[in-house]
Amino acid sequence: MGKINMPHTIKSDFPALRDQSVAYLDSAATSMRPESVLRAMDDFYRYDSANPHRGLYDMSQRATAAYDGARETVARFIGAAPEETIFVRNTSEALNLIAYCFAPYAVGAGDNIVIPITEHHSNIVTWQYVCKKVGAELRYMYVDRETGLLPDSEIERKIDARTKIVAFAHVSNVLGAVLPVLKIVERAKAVGAATVLDIAQSVPHMAVDVKSLGVDFAAFSAHKMYGPMGIGALYGRRELLDAMPPFMFGGDMIEDVREQETDFAPLPSKFEAGTQNGGGAVGFGASAVYIGTIGWDAIESNEHRLLTRLVDGMRRIPHVHITCDAGFGLYDRRAVVSFEVDDVHPHDVATILNESNVAVRAGKHCAHPLLDYLGVPFKATARASLGAYTDESDIDRLLDALPRVRKVMQYGD
Ligand SMILES: Cc1ncc(COP(=O)(O)O)c(C=O)c1O
Repeated sequence: MGKINMPHTIKSDFPALRDQSVAYLDSAATSMRPESVLRAMDDFYRYDSANPHRGLYDMSQRATAAYDGARETVARFIGAAPEETIFVRNTSEALNLIAYCFAPYAVGAGDNIVIPITEHHSNIVTWQYVCKKVGAELRYMYVDRETGLLPDSEIERKIDARTKIVAFAHVSNVLGAVLPVLKIVERAKAVGAATVLDIAQSVPHMAVDVKSLGVDFAAFSAHKMYGPMGIGALYGRRELLDAMPPFMFGGDMIEDVREQETDFAPLPSKFEAGTQNGGGAVGFGASAVYIGTIGWDAIESNEHRLLTRLVDGMRRIPHVHITCDAGFGLYDRRAVVSFEVDDVHPHDVATILNESNVAVRAGKHCAHPLLDYLGVPFKATARASLGAYTDESDIDRLLDALPRVRKVMQYGD
């Protein structure tokens, strides 16, 4: 018998998933990577892996073109200019850069920084550090516990004349709740506060244009959008980045160095000291191109259909509860569902699901304050999250495996 040509699916682009052995439902932690991204990085290291921006010979020129080209692609992906797009290690580093190089000059004693309670630790601990250092208050906007929805009144009340920074995730990594960016930005602008948008969980699922959102800074990681680990980007408005001091010092971020003084390079090099993650940048660019080849319409409609299937299915399983379930249908929720199984610790839930080769995350999801605030049993949840490659079989495998959890734990029903 001749070779059978299987129909092309998005999943078949991903070597780690194409044999269907695992129902991978942990894309919010990190996505898998498609062949095109792996090939782009492999080609860079095989054929062009001289140091970018350093040599005059052909191979270094090719490395420079690959690195700078990747920046242009990533910048275009979020609607930014290349000079405003700084390569960093990840979302956390991008937020740290703002905390070290912008916040101390923008926030003083008696001022406040406002964040929602739904934030990931990288968008909490960073601001705790700044507030302690300068004597400012870290102030929280609280979501409704039933729906996960951030009420307008919290935005109006908490962001006030002493607010200097409002930092928030576009999409919550625990609830998949989409925050009302335009409303928050409008209020922040009205009081003269800078806005920092963590787009780590939105860029894999929806088109994000930092200019039309009107934010001052945005942070994201390649590894959550089908790119490699160890690289991400910070977007910053040019005037702000220009005015900020460098984050790290070293090679490539200088214009001229004298014995006692240094002139720093213009953007974006000012913020990229030393040899950079060239292969990572190339993979990052390739991941943005890959998303473009699937297209937002296809990604969003697939994920919406599967999220609905997942939520509907979970609601029918006794003893399974979706965290902030009342919010589904009420406002925009994307790609992430946290859930609880009566009497069973989420770590046991995830371990038992793993026996059926269903991969979900369990715990506090780097969001301890939110899990404490929600008051869910065990102060933790299990979490299923989707990617562009997720299909019906992944969802159904989770739904089929879930009723087994309480049986394994010896509950009679
Ligand atoms: C909303 C959000 N912000 C920040 C991060 C931190 O990303 P990284 O670990 O790539 O720095 C995550 C990771 O899960 C996240 O979900």
